[in-house]
Amino acid sequence: MKLTLKIFFGILMLLNTSLAYKPVVLVHGIMTGSGSMEIISRRIQEKHPGTKVYNVNRFESWSSLETMWHQVLEIGLDIANISSHYPEGINLIGYSQGGLVARGIVQTFPNVSVSTFISLSSPQGGQYGAGFLHVVFPGLVKESAYELFYSRVGQHTSVGNYWKDPYHQTLYEEYSVFLPYINNHIMSAKSDDFKSNLLRLKRFVLIGGPDDQVITPWQSSQFGYYNVNETVVELREQDIYMSDRIGLRALDESGRLHIVTVPGINHFNWHMNVSIVDDYLLPYLD
Ligand SMILES: *[C@@H]1O[C@H](CO)[C@@H](O)[C@H](O)[C@H]1NC(C)=O
Ligand SMILES: *[C@@H]1O[C@H](CO)[C@@H](O)[C@H](O)[C@H]1NC(C)=O
Ligand SMILES: *[C@@H]1O[C@H](CO)[C@@H](O)[C@H](O)[C@H]1NC(C)=O
Ligand SMILES: *[C@@H]1O[C@H](CO)[C@@H](O)[C@H](O)[C@H]1NC(C)=O
Repeated sequence: MKLTLKIFFGILMLLNTSLAYKPVVLVHGIMTGSGSMEIISRRIQEKHPGTKVYNVNRFESWSSLETMWHQVLEIGLDIANISSHYPEGINLIGYSQGGLVARGIVQTFPNVSVSTFISLSSPQGGQYGAGFLHVVFPGLVKESAYELFYSRVGQHTSVGNYWKDPYHQTLYEEYSVFLPYINNHIMSAKSDDFKSNLLRLKRFVLIGGPDDQVITPWQSSQFGYYNVNETVVELREQDIYMSDRIGLRALDESGRLHIVTVPGINHFNWHMNVSIVDDYLLPYLD
C-alpha cells in the first residue's frame, strides 16, 4: 500500500514538472545545424526537467545561406505545427542568424504563439563587418560587399538580405528584400501584421556583448546600428524605436523588452557556454 502510494505521488510529481515548463524551440546559426544547439538543449532539460525541446534541423550548413524569407516560411510552418499543440504558448531561442529567422517567424505567423523570445547575439539591426563576411565569403571586404549584396543575385543569399551598408542606404532600400520590410522601415501591406504579431510577445530578450567580434556593430544584437558616418546609435535613439515601427517601444514601456549585455563572450561561444544558459537563458524560460 505504502509503495503504491509512493509510486502514485511519484507519477503525480513527474506529471507536475512536465507540465511546469513551456516547450522550447531552438533555431541554429549560419553554416551550422541543430548539433550546434545541443549544449543549450541538454542544459535546459537538465535544469528544467520535463521541458520538451525542439531543435530545428532545417537549413543546416550551406543551405543556411538560402534566402531569409524562404527560411522564415519553411521553418515557420514547422513551428506553427509545434505551436498548435501547445495552447499555452512556446518559448523560442534563436542564435545568430537563427535569431533573425526566428524574429521573422514571430512577425509573420499569427498561429505561432510565443511567450518568451530570446535573440542570442543575432544581427537584428543588420550587419556590416568582415567578421561575419569571412565565415562565408572569405574574399569579400566590407567596403565593396554591397556591390554583390545590393543586386538581384546578391539577394539570393541570407547574408545579403540583412547586409546594411551605412554608406549605401539608398541601394539598401532599393534592393534589400528582407530587413527593411521586417523592420517596417519600408512599409508594405504586411506592416501592421509585422507589428501586431511582435506585440503578442510576453518577453523579448535581446542578448549581445562587446566582445562578440562577429556581429558588427555588436549593438546590432540589440537593434543598435551605425549612422551614416559609422557612429553607433543605440536602440532607444533609433527611428525603429522612437517611431515604434514594430512595437519595440511599446514592449519596452510595458516592461517586456529585456536588453542584456554580456562582456567577454566571443560570437562562437554564446551557444557553447553552459553558464550563459544558466545565467541568461534559463531565468527567462517559464
Ligand atoms: C505536424 O506535427 C505532427 C507531429 O506533431 C506530424 O505528424 C505532422 O506531420 C506535422 N505536420 C506538418 C504539416 O508538418
Ligand atoms: C499557420 O498559418 C499558415 C499561414 O499563415 C498556414 O499555412 C499553416 O497551415 C498554419 N499552421 C497551422 C498548424 O495551423
Ligand atoms: C555624423 O554625421 C552627422 C550628419 O550627417 C553629423 O551631425 C554628426 O556630427 C556626425 N558624427 C560624427 C561622429 O562625425
Ligand atoms: C562563459 O560565460 C561566462 C559568463 O556567464 C564567462 O564568464 C566565461 O568567460 C564564458 N566562457 C567562455 C569560454 O566564453
